Amino acid sequence: MSTAPPDPPGGEDNETAAFGFRQVAAQTRQGLVNEVFSTVAARYDLMNDLMSGGLHRLWKDDLITWLNPPRSQRPFELIDVAAGTGDVALKALRGGGTGCRATLCDISPAMLEVGRDRLRQAGLADRAGFAIGNAEALPFADQRFDAFTIAFGIRNVTRIDRALAEARRVLKRGGRFLCLEFSCCEVPVLDRLYDFHSFEVIPRLGALAAGAAEPYRYLVESIRKFPDQRRFATMIGGCGFQRVSFRNLTGGIAAIHSGWRL
Ligand SMILES: C[S@@+](CC[C@H](N)C(=O)[O-])C[C@H]1O[C@@H](n2cnc3c(N)ncnc32)[C@H](O)[C@@H]1O
Repeated sequence: MSTAPPDPPGGEDNETAAFGFRQVAAQTRQGLVNEVFSTVAARYDLMNDLMSGGLHRLWKDDLITWLNPPRSQRPFELIDVAAGTGDVALKALRGGGTGCRATLCDISPAMLEVGRDRLRQAGLADRAGFAIGNAEALPFADQRFDAFTIAFGIRNVTRIDRALAEARRVLKRGGRFLCLEFSCCEVPVLDRLYDFHSFEVIPRLGALAAGAAEPYRYLVESIRKFPDQRRFATMIGGCGFQRVSFRNLTGGIAAIHSGWRL
């Protein structure tokens, strides 16, 4: 595993990007995101359970069901980008056969280190690889992977279109892109409760359980800035993926998008 995250790809000097509800210089945004995740890494799994009431586990199970890794010895190479503490890779390797291998890639060494420990403890490290890398400029050759997953990662990326193009580039022909991300709640009343939970409960939980409200405020705000399910599907199609579709989870609080490199 390399030790330092690569420099973010350059942008125009006057380009700006949303960092939560704030507009910041595009070139500084990734650094701010990295600060968030290096701050929360040690408490990330606990906070994920507290904030979502454990729902994120069910959503990740849905992602793996849709991925459907082969249960045989047939080689199957998965790349999980923004892998963080390794949940998706763990579930894919447990669900797949001995031919299934996962590469975990994340820009945050602190998050990936937790992921590496968890895979080791699960006895799955021999079927896993680890790489520090930016989703916008992946450190992998063209057409190397059978499947690409990214869970709760893409909204943290500054230039989503570049990350989608990179996903397509590293996938083999016939490879599948699957993205689990927070989305737009489409159920009346549930949307109000969700707003209250997001803006009133989560930052307070962050302050109490992790000693910091600010990173959790960013997480909530970044969800609201992310395109809704239909717009995101259009972006995926615009980057050359085919047969793009999505499924809402829990009324659209989260969604899984799928696309194929054909
Ligand atoms: C909310 S966590 C999700 C972690 C894990 N996928 C999960 O579902 O539990 C977001 C992850 O995205 C990573 N990340 C943020 N920007 C990134 C980028 N440009 N390239 C790769 N990873 C990035 C963060 O370091 C963090 O580990």
